[in-house]
Amino acid sequence: MTVDPARKAALDLLVLALGKRAGLEAALDAPALALLEPKDRNFARAAAMATLRHLGPIDRALDGRLQKPPPDPVRMILRLGAAQMFFLDVPDYAAVDGSVGLAAADKATQPFKGLVNAVLRRLRREGPLSSDPADLAPPWLFARWQTAYGAENARAMAAVIAEEPATDLTPRDPADAKALAGALEATPLPGGSLRRVGRGRIEDWPGFAEGRWWVQDAAAAIPARLMGAGSGETVIDLCAAPGGKALQLAAAGAAVTALDRSASRLKRLTEGLRRTGLAAEVVAADAETWDDPRVFDAVLLDAPCSSTGTFRRNPDVLWTLTAPDVAKVAAVQSRLLDAAVRRVKPGGRLIYCVCSLETEEGESQAREFLRRHPDFATAPIAAGEGGAPAASVTAEGWLRILPHHLDGGLDGFFVARFARVG
Ligand SMILES: C[S@@+](CC[C@H](N)C(=O)[O-])C[C@H]1O[C@@H](n2cnc3c(N)ncnc32)[C@H](O)[C@@H]1O
Repeated sequence: MTVDPARKAALDLLVLALGKRAGLEAALDAPALALLEPKDRNFARAAAMATLRHLGPIDRALDGRLQKPPPDPVRMILRLGAAQMFFLDVPDYAAVDGSVGLAAADKATQPFKGLVNAVLRRLRREGPLSSDPADLAPPWLFARWQTAYGAENARAMAAVIAEEPATDLTPRDPADAKALAGALEATPLPGGSLRRVGRGRIEDWPGFAEGRWWVQDAAAAIPARLMGAGSGETVIDLCAAPGGKALQLAAAGAAVTALDRSASRLKRLTEGLRRTGLAAEVVAADAETWDDPRVFDAVLLDAPCSSTGTFRRNPDVLWTLTAPDVAKVAAVQSRLLDAAVRRVKPGGRLIYCVCSLETEEGESQAREFLRRHPDFATAPIAAGEGGAPAASVTAEGWLRILPHHLDGGLDGFFVARFARVG
């Protein structure tokens, strides 16, 4: 039996995605994938993403049909086979044969060919996988979401895990939004983002080459708008790469300093500036130790985080994250907030945001920040401001954006705006 290159690539993607944090992003950028025929590449990507988006129900169904846990590589083949049968337009026999072929191709999994065949056939015979949204998230994360946001919200946000997201774009010039919406067949969203359901190479979409827009999730576009930065103002984005928010600030007319400690990620920011014709001072440095005396009218801290809010595009984050990881990034955020304070002019403002759904990286962080820095106060965010969904506004005037707060979904985010009052 020969191995189908598309299925082998899907398996490699899955193994890499679940092997370490941010593994999917790296795997999707890997040269091996680019070398495949477009048809095979698309299948590999679709199969791996379908598996990751339904991993909870798939694992539940497999566990119920396996007498003892199989070796990891066998489980990966079973997961991929189940995803093809239930969530892709693949005939059952092809999903089963392809999976048996994958098992046969490796010495370690070869002895489990019969098991793969039997388990997948039984799965198909015994009917659909669980459709309970609670099963879509790892139990420990779901339990945290329930505690933080209540049972109803936890189920509604978990249901979004299974959905394939559309692509959101930010127009460089808000006045161009209507024309772009027409050319791209995109839907305008509150706040000014555009949502496009189309597929294909982003580089080929109308307006890309002329830099009339950049890809940015609807939720990710909100924090920079809330800064209200305008011409004549100085702004620093302390964690700027790959650059969506820095581009927004530059497009608003502010004098932007875009700092990030990752020189390689900053390359994407520089490329974005070049393509859009926007300008910013780009600095590769650590925000905590950056040796520069300047202070700014407005400071944006889009801090490194657990990224659970990005599960629509990166479903792997849900399955590779651990509780200690959350504690670790939360500690980094609190140090970065203290570093950010040193950059805010008297009377200036500070926006802290993270694409996380964990309260240690949002509400607790904001509360502790205000305790540590009595010279800062919350500048409350109003419903609708910058596209903020009304359901996301908290009693404190912060935003807790949950993925179901917009029809069709959006990334989970926490945003707080502070003003220096002392
Ligand atoms: C959430 S991402 C920023 C996304 C970016 N603001 C955007 O809109 O495209 C977090 C960034 O923080 C950077 N980072 C992490 N620790 C840092 C530090 N101590 N100083 C500066 N940048 C840091 C990472 O390299 C990463 O690019």
